Amino acid sequence: MADSGTLVNVLRAAGEGTRLRLLALLCDGEHSVKDLTEILGQSQPRVSRHLKLLADAGLVSRNAEGAWAYYGLAEGGAGGDLARWLVARIDADDSDRARDRARLAAVRAAQQEQAAAYFAKVADSWDRLRQLHVPEEAVEAAILEAVDGRVADLLLDLGTGTGRMLELLAPHYRRAVGIDSSREMLAIARAKLAAAGIGNAQVRLGDIADLDASLGSADLIVIHQVLHYFDDPGRVLGQARRLLRADGEILIVDFAPHDLEFLRSHHAHRRLGIGAQQMAGWARAAGLRVAELRSFPPSNGAGLTVCLWRLANDPDGNWTE
Ligand SMILES: C[S@@+](CC[C@H](N)C(=O)[O-])C[C@H]1O[C@@H](n2cnc3c(N)ncnc32)[C@H](O)[C@@H]1O
Repeated sequence: MADSGTLVNVLRAAGEGTRLRLLALLCDGEHSVKDLTEILGQSQPRVSRHLKLLADAGLVSRNAEGAWAYYGLAEGGAGGDLARWLVARIDADDSDRARDRARLAAVRAAQQEQAAAYFAKVADSWDRLRQLHVPEEAVEAAILEAVDGRVADLLLDLGTGTGRMLELLAPHYRRAVGIDSSREMLAIARAKLAAAGIGNAQVRLGDIADLDASLGSADLIVIHQVLHYFDDPGRVLGQARRLLRADGEILIVDFAPHDLEFLRSHHAHRRLGIGAQQMAGWARAAGLRVAELRSFPPSNGAGLTVCLWRLANDPDGNWTE
């Protein structure tokens, strides 16, 4: 419920062509101003002005990250509700909507290509790179603690890279599948798994933002240092949730919020870490809940804090496929 003045403001903000298109795009997930500008084909100041109006009226939320800002639909309140109601009523073959969706897909594909090119370049040195400035040993010990001696029938490792998680967790699954979009990373993972004699894990080429349901139903899903490569990590959580057994668990490891812009400009990162509230929101939207969050400051005092989240199905969630 909201007072009539608030509702008039919300309606005024939503009642304009470009702003309705923006709401529709944000209904598909979070986006940076940069991407929205590219998709709409309008100038950045203009798009920013529209977004500010929508944010002031409570229709969208703004999340500043370093030099970028990400926008998403407001979670609750009259604004968020009205935005979802409106977007759900846009004709499936509306020409603006179809064009914006096609451009969004093209923008995502271009980003994916950039990330793939980066990982193709660093694949050989990844096992050395991945240990830099992060409390690797403490995090891996915490992952094993979280697994607590359980043995999963099926473990999925999303964004498996060189397969380190498949190696670490080998005693804790009967069968595992690692998925990654980089052929170069997967070639190294295959060689490593073979050398370690791990025969019950396989790796496959795939996009974890668009997972194949035939992968099966997993009791454990691991997403280790992957979500920060996505503009919209919530999308990956939604995909993981589809493949999670009712009593299953998702383990996520990622950086806490930081301000190291060079990771974005030189190392293909999209998000400068992930905050507790952000993860809780994405989890909620995917029908999951955060069961535990642990933080690990950098081992040598300099560097980034790493977080470990344990996510479980939320029986009270209103998620629908
Ligand atoms: C930082 S590496 C982490 C690899 C591994 N989990 C680890 O901790 O060593 C991120 C991995 O995510 C993969 N990746 C990025 N976007 C992806 C996507 N859309 N689908 C599948 N894999 C993706 C990259 O190819 C890369 O191997």
